[in-house]
Amino acid sequence: MPKLSDLYPLVRKGLFHIPAETAHKLVIGGLGFLPGSTLRAIAENCQVTDPRLVSHLWGIRFENPVGLAAGFDKSARAFNSLAALGFGFIEVGTITAYAQPGNAKPRIFRLPEDEALLNRMGFNNPGAEAVASRLARTPVKTVLGINVGKSKVTPIEEASGDYLRSIDLLAPYARYLVVNVSSPNTPGLRDLQDAGPLRNLLRTVVGRLDAGPPRKAPAPPVLLKLAPDLSYDQIDQAVDIAEEEGVAGIIATNTTISRQGLRTPADLVESLGAGGVSGRPVRARALQVVRRVYNRTGGRLPIIGVGGIFSAADAWEMIRAGASLVQVYTGFVYGGPMVVKTINQGLVEILEREGLDSITKAVGTGAS
Ligand SMILES: Cc1cc2nc3c(=O)[nH]c(=O)nc-3n(C[C@H](O)[C@H](O)[C@H](O)COP(=O)(O)O)c2cc1C
Repeated sequence: MPKLSDLYPLVRKGLFHIPAETAHKLVIGGLGFLPGSTLRAIAENCQVTDPRLVSHLWGIRFENPVGLAAGFDKSARAFNSLAALGFGFIEVGTITAYAQPGNAKPRIFRLPEDEALLNRMGFNNPGAEAVASRLARTPVKTVLGINVGKSKVTPIEEASGDYLRSIDLLAPYARYLVVNVSSPNTPGLRDLQDAGPLRNLLRTVVGRLDAGPPRKAPAPPVLLKLAPDLSYDQIDQAVDIAEEEGVAGIIATNTTISRQGLRTPADLVESLGAGGVSGRPVRARALQVVRRVYNRTGGRLPIIGVGGIFSAADAWEMIRAGASLVQVYTGFVYGGPMVVKTINQGLVEILEREGLDSITKAVGTGAS
């Protein structure tokens, strides 16, 4: 039987012939329908089990450091199937308090020359209540992160209440929560990264979880997801506020609004319109942001590094820059389902070569 890794270039050719969002829907729909026996067979083939890849953060055990980034499983429909592909954790969302359709289609585009995507999805999702009721019916078989954002209809001044509504509904199902203030496709959202609104939002959210109703498990840690387009001063400020307000970690970074350095002809890129670019073009900046956050906090706040990771070497560089964990999105679209296994196997080989007995010992070793 041909191997999945040999087949994916063919499958990708087919998928890349249809509009990006249709292809994505097919993948999520297909994965959601896989029976347990198939999932177990996939997991056996894809999971890399090696004690050197394990880390413990926020009281959570991560079997390996490679997670799926937010936006792929926005509505939490396929996270168990995706986990079977070997991810150490899955982040679902962004989920908003109110159901919303997102922007007009088409709203995802491939930039193959750049191994990039451009999207302006605009947080299309069925709303926190619908997702919470799905999660209540689904046994979660992975480390599940839940990413929340502001509903488009909610004025920016009322953002905190909107986030709280989602968090109240979703916190019981999350191993960690992400406050997303960095997507470029909700008007005004990124202004929540400014000092005043950010402090207010984080204080409200962290305060609510600290004071929340008694639960079986401790309240999930809150992580803050930042944009790559912030200046160094803005990053420092946001990270200081996050630390002061009791945030447990930083995710760096979201997509970029920059169009610099793309190989795709500028007129073609311009014709696609607004949106955030992900994949290879965001990698260098994401690394810089991770390094900056690591140095600013002296490594105190764990970082999830995301942006342009396609290979074990990319993941390794991100970890050395200061990331305790990494995530992939665009690298998964271009590299296919075997990319997670390839990255994890590659990391084990690198650890072997470096004579390290744990991935955690590499974190931040290339940050200065
Ligand atoms: C189509 C698409 C949708 C995305 N949706 C979200 C989202 O809803 N919330 C979020 O925090 N990030 C979202 N992202 C950003 C990714 O989580 C990630 O931060 C970014 O793409 C950089 O990683 P990558 O280069 O591996 O893709 C989205 C990315 C893409 C390509």
